[in-house]
Amino acid sequence: MKDFEHLVFDMDQGVATLTFHRPKALNALNAALLAEFSQALRDIEDDESIRVLVLTGAGDKAFVAGADITELATFNPLQARKFSRLGHQAIGALQDLPIPVIAAVNGYALGGGCEIALACDFVYASENAQFGLPEINLGIIPGFGGTQRLPRLIGKNMAKELIFTGKMIPASEAREIGLVNRVLASDSLLAETAKTARSIAQKGKVSLRAAKHAVNTGTDADLATGCAVEVDAFALCMASEDAKEGTGAFLDKRKPSFDGNRDA
Ligand code: CAA
Repeated sequence: MKDFEHLVFDMDQGVATLTFHRPKALNALNAALLAEFSQALRDIEDDESIRVLVLTGAGDKAFVAGADITELATFNPLQARKFSRLGHQAIGALQDLPIPVIAAVNGYALGGGCEIALACDFVYASENAQFGLPEINLGIIPGFGGTQRLPRLIGKNMAKELIFTGKMIPASEAREIGLVNRVLASDSLLAETAKTARSIAQKGKVSLRAAKHAVNTGTDADLATGCAVEVDAFALCMASEDAKEGTGAFLDKRKPSFDGNRDA
């Protein structure tokens, strides 16, 4: 893993943690941070020892407070297009990462920050977390997938209310509408996220990858297509060492030990 200026990388027991680190700007995403984020995701995908990724923000105030408005304010439409595509590429790569990704949202997740959380497999949040797509207050709209991923997750009308008003909602409300899985005290957010991440890291890589692929592909397709994807993904799992180990361990009445086999 390269050294980054705006990201901190940690690794423990197969769980990588990437921390957005621009604390003076509440970890806002400028072009340099986005480029580093894309590079870090490529490095993480190439590292076979990483089984789960956790994303969080530096400090106790923000996960990510959105795109960097100082930078954004200077864009002409062509520059805005380039920036939006850069964000879409990074966040698309995040969503397509073959390992599970958990967002540990430790404060503001606004605009691009909320859009990053939306591309993670699920979100844990601290009690002080706030979510929102406030772009309308800047005279613009979400540019990193918010108008697409938010309605798919929480429903069209709920998403429109958040996008049209630009209001922030607390973690408790974000949980009620299905944006957040668990709300935790600030001082236990990272430990609880790590506990879940470590438990997932013990599972088989092939089956995790297949499950993520089936859910993600299926939610954007009709039921018949989604079910067909599941059939193939299920069959593929049976070719893996993990499936032999998992079923064998059950029949031998022992705990399975999944080494993982990404090639199957
Ligand atoms: N871009 C650049 N700088 C930002 C920033 C952002 N998105 N968010 C916060 N900062 C900076 C502030 O300018 C401030 O810097 P200075 O100390 O140099 O003045 C510092 O971070 C601390 O912020 P505040 O003083 O504003 O802190 P606060 O506690 O009073 O308010 C906040 C916190 C409610 C998050 C407020 O900072 C805020 O509203 N930030 C902007 C949120 C936003 O609109 N995000 C969407 C951006 S557009 C986008 O993301 C488009 C897209 O889809 C890609």
